[in-house]
Amino acid sequence: MPGPELKDLFENNKKWAGEITKRDPTFFKRLSHLQSPKYLWIGCSDSRVPANQITGLLPGELFVHRNVANIVVHTDLNCLSVLQFAVEILEVRHVIICGHYGCGGVEAAFHSKKLGLIDNWLRHIQDIRTKYSHELNQIKDETACLKRLCELNVLEQAQNVCQTTIVQDARNKKKALSVHALIYDIHDGLLKQLWSSK
Ligand code: CO
Repeated sequence: MPGPELKDLFENNKKWAGEITKRDPTFFKRLSHLQSPKYLWIGCSDSRVPANQITGLLPGELFVHRNVANIVVHTDLNCLSVLQFAVEILEVRHVIICGHYGCGGVEAAFHSKKLGLIDNWLRHIQDIRTKYSHELNQIKDETACLKRLCELNVLEQAQNVCQTTIVQDARNKKKALSVHALIYDIHDGLLKQLWSSK
């Protein structure tokens, strides 16, 4: 029996599974045999940006990797393994990198906040801030500047995805694969496309 701390979660879960089964009695049985999602989502861990909910996709429709500030680093075996599995085994058609305005990771990097181990991870965003310092310094309003850094971060991470051996190999094999850079606004719940490879 679950302890009292997680009681709500288990109750919600039971209700959720029951509702889905009521609508579609074979839903879980079908999914238990295979998954064939069309999309890989690489997003921020932020609790306000739940990938399936904001895209209205059901279990089985979205393969997901999330980390703080949706960063794709060429030495991150975790992220690269997700990407490789999604592209080569699941054969997803779209890789979506989704950042969001109001990203705590981007803000911490922008203000050079000292938060511990994570400072090393967020250093990648400080490198982007440095790379685009000319553009960013011209934006006088701090909120606007932070928003732009959130966008630049997604755009840079989308380029990183494109430069991985995994996406390069897919391109060489003429696989149908598109990479998209999206940004989500936590103020109105809306997604915006910033860039797309096709
Ligand atoms: Co974030």
